[in-house]
Amino acid sequence: MGLYQRMKKIIITLDGYSSCGKSTLARQLANELNYVFIDSGAMYRAITLYFLRQHIDWNQVTAVNKALSEINLEFQYNEITGQSDMYLNDENVEALIRDMLVSEHVSEVAALKEVREFAVAQQQKMGEKKGIVMDGRDIGTTVFPNAELKIFVTADPAIRVERRFKELYAKNPNITLEEIKTNLEMRDYIDSNREFSPLRRADDAVDLDNSNLTREEQLAIALKWAKEKMH
Ligand code: DC
Repeated sequence: MGLYQRMKKIIITLDGYSSCGKSTLARQLANELNYVFIDSGAMYRAITLYFLRQHIDWNQVTAVNKALSEINLEFQYNEITGQSDMYLNDENVEALIRDMLVSEHVSEVAALKEVREFAVAQQQKMGEKKGIVMDGRDIGTTVFPNAELKIFVTADPAIRVERRFKELYAKNPNITLEEIKTNLEMRDYIDSNREFSPLRRADDAVDLDNSNLTREEQLAIALKWAKEKMH
């Protein structure tokens, strides 16, 4: 039995603006603690992909509800990458949901009340047994308001654009820094100003600015906080 398995199982939430490195840190933490990692943004992205493919008019509540009733979301472990992939109705959509077209519409879709209720209910179920690290925008505020450890991740805006650019350029060499900057600014604005569970720092969250931290350094800080809560 590993060191951490003997300790109390907790829920760890990571919230913050787009491209702050939340998923990277959440994945590192989950690996280290042998916890389940859930990228809640992938769920909103998969829903958006479905809406786009089916030409759903998301201003119509009836159409949204019908579409949601047709959606089954699942995370499945990928043995090659060692990570969990997002499955939409049994199709692996992990690569497709990172597409710019999805990024351009996801904040609008994620702002819908029906979409939030649909995703939040599933996220809460995933945390019933604890031992989970989930990243997103409203995880420490709405999904798990009683989580033992809440981390609010921040990073310098220029560094965020640069990181996103490096990530996307490999797949799409036509992408520009300007396009990414505009998309991040637009998503941050919509995510923070929407009516239902906007992005907000939970009052009891701890701040982690990773602008000048290596992956190892940010992991060490977060692990220290986690261990304090696991005793
Ligand atoms: O983490 P990400 O960039 O993949 O998330 C994509 C979008 O999904 C983000 O712009 C806002 C939305 N989102 C949300 O509203 N609530 C969450 N818990 C996670 C993501």
